[in-house]
Amino acid sequence: MPVYSISHVENVRVCVVMVGLPARGKSLISQKIVRYLSWLSIKSRCFNVGSYRREIAKDAVIDAEFFDPLNTEGLHYRQQAIDAAIFDMMKWFTEENGVVGILDATNSTRKRREMILRLCRENHIEPLFLESWCNDKELILQNIADVKTTSPDYIKTPNDIATQDFLKRIEFYETVYETMDTAKDANLTFIKLVNVNSQIVLNRIETYLESRIVYYVMNLHIKPRSIWLSRHGESEFNLTGQIGGDANLSERGWRYAKKLPDLVLKSLGEELKHTNLTVWTSTLKRTQQTASFLPYKKLQWKALDELDAGECDGMTYEEIEERFPDDFKARDDDKYEYRYRGGESYRDIVIRLEPIIMELERQENILIITHQAVLRCLYAYFMNVPQEESPWMSIPLHTLIKLEPRAYSTLVTRIKADIPAVSTYKEKGTSQLGEAKTGELIFKSRDLINNSEEAL
Ligand SMILES: *[C@@H]1O[C@H](CO)[C@@H](O)[C@H](O)[C@H]1NC(C)=O
Ligand SMILES: *[C@@H]1O[C@H](CO)[C@@H](O)[C@H](O)[C@H]1NC(C)=O
Ligand SMILES: *[C@@H]1O[C@H](CO)[C@@H](O)[C@H](O)[C@H]1NC(C)=O
Ligand SMILES: *[C@@H]1O[C@H](CO)[C@@H](O)[C@H](O)[C@H]1NC(C)=O
Ligand SMILES: *[C@@H]1O[C@H](CO)[C@@H](O)[C@H](O)[C@H]1NC(C)=O
Repeated sequence: MPVYSISHVENVRVCVVMVGLPARGKSLISQKIVRYLSWLSIKSRCFNVGSYRREIAKDAVIDAEFFDPLNTEGLHYRQQAIDAAIFDMMKWFTEENGVVGILDATNSTRKRREMILRLCRENHIEPLFLESWCNDKELILQNIADVKTTSPDYIKTPNDIATQDFLKRIEFYETVYETMDTAKDANLTFIKLVNVNSQIVLNRIETYLESRIVYYVMNLHIKPRSIWLSRHGESEFNLTGQIGGDANLSERGWRYAKKLPDLVLKSLGEELKHTNLTVWTSTLKRTQQTASFLPYKKLQWKALDELDAGECDGMTYEEIEERFPDDFKARDDDKYEYRYRGGESYRDIVIRLEPIIMELERQENILIITHQAVLRCLYAYFMNVPQEESPWMSIPLHTLIKLEPRAYSTLVTRIKADIPAVSTYKEKGTSQLGEAKTGELIFKSRDLINNSEEAL
C-alpha cells in the first residue's frame, strides 16, 4: 500500500540556507523545521556550521576576536567549517535521499550566498534562503541569554563577560552582513522574517514543500510558555481492558480529575499561580470529565479524539487477537502504519493533528487532555521521537506532563498524581496489558534540539 508523503508528490529537494546575525534564533528555527518535517515523514536534517567550527578549531581560542573579519586564522577555520558542513549535506542528499537539508550558518554575505546557490543548482537542489532579521533589543538580549547559558563556547565563562564577548562578536558580523533584499536578490527564493514574525517578506516561493515551510515559520513565536499534557483519568473501559468507545471515568478516574487542578497549580509554582491556561480536550466524555474541575477556559477538538479502532472498537486486545489474528500481528509488526479495519493508523492521527500543532505553535499556555495514541503523537513532535518508537512509548494514566520549549532543549517534568490506575500499556507480541521492564522506554527523549548549538 503506497503511503502518502509530500516528498513523493513533488520530486524536489530543498536546501534551506539560514541567514542572519548571531542571536537571531536561527538555530531554534532550524531545529523546529527539522522536527516538524520529520514528524510529517519528510526526511530532514540540520547541518550546524557552529558545531563543525567547534570541532575543527578545537584548539583555537574562541573569543570575539576569532570572529573579526580581519583575523585570518579565524577566517581559515570558519571557511573549513562551512566547507565541511556543505560537503556532508551534499553527501546526505545523494547517499541518504535527504529531502530538506538546513544549512545553519551565520555568515551569509551575498558572495557566499552565490556560492551556495551555484552548488545547489549543480546538484538539482532548490535553495531556499531563510533570513531572521531582528533589531528588537529585548529579543536579542533574550536570545543571547539563552545562547550563553547553553553554548559550548561559553561553558566556562562568567555571565557578564560572556554577554560582552557575544555582543562584540555580533558587531564583527555586522560589519560584513548583507540582508536579503527584494531588489538585489529578486531572483532568489527567500523568506525574510522581521522581528520573528511581525513582518514577513516572501520572494519566489514556488514549490508546495517551500510553501509548507513558509506556513510553519509564519506560525512560530518565541515567547516563553509551557504546554501540559495529560491522558484522561482511568475510564470504565480501561477497567475491563476494552479499547475505544465513549465510556465514563471510573471512580479512580474521577479522583484524578478532582486532583488535577492542584497538580496544575503545583506545576505553575507560587509565582505563576495566577497564569491563565486554556484547556483543550477531545470531544469524548472521558477527557471532558477529566477537565471538569479545572477553572480555565476549555475548548473541544474533534482532532484530539482517540485513534479510531474501527471494527475493533469496544473489544479487548485478547478478543482482537482471537478474532483478527493477522491484523493483530500486522499491527505489532508496524504499529505506525497499521490501520484498523475501518479505522485509523498512527500516521492518520499525525495528519489530523497537524492543525493542532500549528495552533499550539501560535498559542501560549495550553493544557491538553487527550488519549494515549494522540498524546504519543503530540509528544513525539515536541521531543523528536522517531516514528518507529513513538507508538510504543508508554504514557501512564494519572500523570501530568509539563513541556517547556527552550531555545536549545525542551524541558520535561512529570507529576504523578499518586492515584492508582490499571496499566493500559500493551507490549509488542502480547495481548496482555502491563508495564514490563521496557517501561524504561517511557519518555526516552531523542531531543535533537538538546544536541544543537548556535552556529557562530
Ligand atoms: C564571511 O564573509 C566574508 C566576506 O565575504 C568571507 O571572506 C568569509 O570567508 C565568510 N566566512 C564564513 C565562515 O562564511
Ligand atoms: C535576474 O535574472 C535575470 C534573468 O536571468 C537577469 O537578467 C537579472 O539581472 C537578474 N536580476 C538580479 C537582481 O540578479
Ligand atoms: C482506555 O479506555 C479508553 C476508553 O475509555 C480507550 O479509548 C483506550 O484505548 C483505553 N486504553 C487502553 C490501552 O486500553
Ligand atoms: C455515564 O454517566 C452518566 C451519568 O453520569 C450516565 O447517565 C450514563 O449512562 C453513563 N454511561 C455509561 C456508558 O455508563
Ligand atoms: C485570567 O482570566 C480571568 C477571567 O477571564 C481574569 O479575571 C484574570 O485577570 C486573568 N488573569 C491573568 C493573570 O491574566
